[in-house]
Amino acid sequence: MNYHVSSRFTPTTRIILARIFLISCVLLLGALPAAAQTTDVTGFWVLNVPTGDGNIIKTFFDLKQAGEQVTGTAYIRYGKATIGEGSFSGGKLHLGVILSPLNPQRRAFYDGTFEGDKLRLTVHFPNRDVAFGFAERTTPDAVAPPPRLPLPELHDVPDSGLALAPPMGWNSWNKFHRSIDDVTVRGIADAMVASGMRDVGYIYINIDDTWEGPRDAQGNITGNLKFPNMKGLADYVHSKGLKIGLYSSPGPQTCAGYEGSYGHEQQDARTYAAWGFDYLKYDWCSASRVYNKTEVQAVYQKMGDALLSTGRPMIFSLCEYGWDDVWKWGAKVGGNLWRTTGDINDHWDKMDEIGFSQFDIASYTQAGHWNDPDMLEIGNGGMTADEYRTHMSLWSLLAAPLLAGNDLRTMTEETKSILMNTEVIAIDQDPEAHPVKKISEQGHLVVAARPLMHQTWAVGLFNRGDAAAKVSVTWKDLGLHGKLQVRDLWAHKDLGKVADQFSAEVPSHGVVLITVKH
Ligand code: GLA
Repeated sequence: MNYHVSSRFTPTTRIILARIFLISCVLLLGALPAAAQTTDVTGFWVLNVPTGDGNIIKTFFDLKQAGEQVTGTAYIRYGKATIGEGSFSGGKLHLGVILSPLNPQRRAFYDGTFEGDKLRLTVHFPNRDVAFGFAERTTPDAVAPPPRLPLPELHDVPDSGLALAPPMGWNSWNKFHRSIDDVTVRGIADAMVASGMRDVGYIYINIDDTWEGPRDAQGNITGNLKFPNMKGLADYVHSKGLKIGLYSSPGPQTCAGYEGSYGHEQQDARTYAAWGFDYLKYDWCSASRVYNKTEVQAVYQKMGDALLSTGRPMIFSLCEYGWDDVWKWGAKVGGNLWRTTGDINDHWDKMDEIGFSQFDIASYTQAGHWNDPDMLEIGNGGMTADEYRTHMSLWSLLAAPLLAGNDLRTMTEETKSILMNTEVIAIDQDPEAHPVKKISEQGHLVVAARPLMHQTWAVGLFNRGDAAAKVSVTWKDLGLHGKLQVRDLWAHKDLGKVADQFSAEVPSHGVVLITVKH
């Protein structure tokens, strides 16, 4: 057929046709950048991953390809991370991004192939559902921070008079992370009442990260598809005799990559007040993109002033992981509580590390202004009952906020007995707000005590070791003497009058918590 057709042309026509063919080939090759992209991924990329709630999380990559090897940098939630392993081979891209320099084996993996001139990537983060997205080429200015806005001069924000005792309630993050929505929050509020938690003092229902949607045409923050009616939700929670809290960041994005309040602080505070919110957790996250660490105080002061100016009482919870000795200035910016450490998790090692590192700064607590060693993990399943009793005892001795972090709808009786031990809660909430003191530390054995009202002492005998051990305290160590009445707060038992000292066999990772009085 081809022969037949070509044989109809004259030799001159054939030469012209051959030239046209050759020129077309050259032009076609030049017009094929997509083909070039399939052999070299060098350059800047933005990966858009839809979250399913109407948001898109952006991750940027600055890639360099040499042969089949790919190296470079990832910008995950605007923190820079090194690509620890990377290849582009047989049309397949593989990237392993080091999530923490302290633990280089903990990686996020991105794998995929070209579809047209985009890369379709599968995203595997440790302990998270697999996600998908498309990456397209972009320019380096895509990761540039937004223009810097001026910060206010430092001054003392007037005291709101809130949180005279450490806040008690619940927060969504520890159990639900991103999988939190309106229906679940309402269910938790119901369970807070039905379980009796509300009646022993747990009042705040706090929505953590991932409620945020885009801003509307006037720049007002909105809830996302998981939270279609923030005011309606607040009304519902209030109708249960509870209060409600939410979360934001002074940076352009929150830690989960959602909309932060940068440049909208005043406007957002007004929105929270208009919705009827009672509590804001304000998490530094991407604020490092626009501010440096020496400016933390001014950054938090800005929101402290904004909250106060709304006229609605809102607890202000600072979350900047203890930087710049926040316990020394948190109260000045209107903070009612401030995180003193990085994130807790549901494992003994982390809870133990955080909890027992807090004694030196305990004296910075005062009524209305509390150290926050992070939310409770009790009932989440990663620790034993003894370990959870240590968690609850330690947090109460520290006068820490008691924010349950478990699913209140499905609590076991054991979890309830720990979270709702009113004798332990009373230590946490003691109106005199005296700080705890470490009385002794011998190897893994720690004794800590806190003076309470009515000349009572709360004493925790802790065993951080791996085997049961005897732990003792003398009355002299507490500045007391004679025979004292002892009550065991986990056994709910009076132990009678005891002279000079008290000893108990304490299980591994466990506690015996007593009160002592004349
Ligand atoms: C940070 C905070 C956590 C939690 C998450 C949400 O890690 O420290 O408590 O709020 O962000 O993204």
